Amino acid sequence: MTGSKSTTPIAVIGLGYVGLPLAVALARHFPTIGYDVDAARIDELRQGHDRTGEIDADVVTESTLSVTDDGAAIANAEVYIVTVPTPVDADNQPDLRLIRAACAGVGKLLTAGNIVVFESTVYPGVTEDICGPALAAASGLVCGQDFFLGYSPERINPGDREHTVDKITKVVAGQTAEVLDCLAALYGRVTAGGIHRAKDIKTAEAAKVIENAQRDINIAFVNEVAVICQKLDISAHDVLEAAGTKWNFLPFTPGLVGGHCIGVDPFYLAFQAQQLGHDPQIILSGRRLNDAMGDFVAACIDENMSGPGRVLLLGLTFKENVPDLRNTKVIDVVTGLTARGHQVVVHDPVADGAEAERLYGFPLLSSLDGQEGFDAVVGAVRHDGYLALTAADLAGIVREDGLIADIKGLWREMERPAGRHYWQL
Ligand SMILES: NC(=O)c1ccc[n+]([C@@H]2O[C@H](COP(=O)([O-])OP(=O)(O)OC[C@H]3O[C@@H](n4cnc5c(N)ncnc54)[C@H](O)[C@@H]3O)[C@@H](O)[C@H]2O)c1
Repeated sequence: MTGSKSTTPIAVIGLGYVGLPLAVALARHFPTIGYDVDAARIDELRQGHDRTGEIDADVVTESTLSVTDDGAAIANAEVYIVTVPTPVDADNQPDLRLIRAACAGVGKLLTAGNIVVFESTVYPGVTEDICGPALAAASGLVCGQDFFLGYSPERINPGDREHTVDKITKVVAGQTAEVLDCLAALYGRVTAGGIHRAKDIKTAEAAKVIENAQRDINIAFVNEVAVICQKLDISAHDVLEAAGTKWNFLPFTPGLVGGHCIGVDPFYLAFQAQQLGHDPQIILSGRRLNDAMGDFVAACIDENMSGPGRVLLLGLTFKENVPDLRNTKVIDVVTGLTARGHQVVVHDPVADGAEAERLYGFPLLSSLDGQEGFDAVVGAVRHDGYLALTAADLAGIVREDGLIADIKGLWREMERPAGRHYWQL
């Protein structure tokens, strides 16, 4: 990388939940271009619309970030930052096809002195053992001599306007001390939260994947507590509230673990552990437990109903107040209830109805107006709109003697409507 830092051209590859906020933040300090293979996404961004809801329209339109779906248009970058998805396949094994494709594309553009930084979540070793060789093969250049690798894990949390990319501590690693200095300076311009210089690339990769595995395991523990509490006929929320008064009790809440981070990243770590001959028992049992919660919840709701009936499920997205429907575990509740003979209708004002139809094959209700007489209503996602529902609203939706099922403790503090049963996880 040559010249003064603020003139270093940067390209961000993959403008999703991670790439767009990063690219917008970088564009405040560097000439930045964002590239995405999804032409529709690029069209929307050019019109100022971020369908993920992370960046407001005025910020997108006022940003100096330019966006493109033309791979050749990013050829002049000196630093390439890759933020493409790293999902798992049907067998929960790492699916590295997209990151390999990104390497093939970037590799063709590399020139001497370039740095390629990966922000996608991977297991330790992917950057140096898979991406480096893929970039070298596509470019004909020598990794670590002609071009260099970096890794900087991303910590953003969709829907969270507090821990944004310009405020959090950024872990940074480089293939050489010079590359680390350069990347620490680059990211240091972007965030006020400080830079942590990881010892090496594998350390930075491992740090990210264990952050999310730790969270998954902690949630699995409180989910197991919730299962035990159901059998004891006491509320897990009440138990956790009492235990939470201890100074060192960790505050996790039970529920469904979906999305493409917490529910996916532990599989990356587990895969690599197995490659190394270690059986990752805690990590995989946490995954098993969390993945089973949707059906457990469906069974609890079914047991608390007087027979098969009409159920209105509130919320389908993988977490509160974000539109992302991918890998939502609410779908397991829908499937579990349907399998037990119930007729399920789903409402979600935050999600895109067309996407729900495409991914899951059913339409979404976008309004609760006129919805009444259901045998059960299920609070599945903690959207703000559901927290605002009153006892009268719920009584209007659920018939006399029907069930109000509260997976997320949405209505714990509410004075319950008369003549309705209440179940909570
Ligand atoms: N979403 C999160 O909260 C979060 C947080 C931390 C880390 N991560 C990690 O960051 C990475 C990206 O996640 P995301 O949530 O931003 O994904 P996303 O699906 O929201 O966005 C990824 C974008 O990359 C594009 N893309 C795919 N292949 C491409 C290619 N070859 N060239 C250019 N663009 C391409 C897609 O069209 C999409 O717009 C993943 O590894 C994820 O695990 C995500």
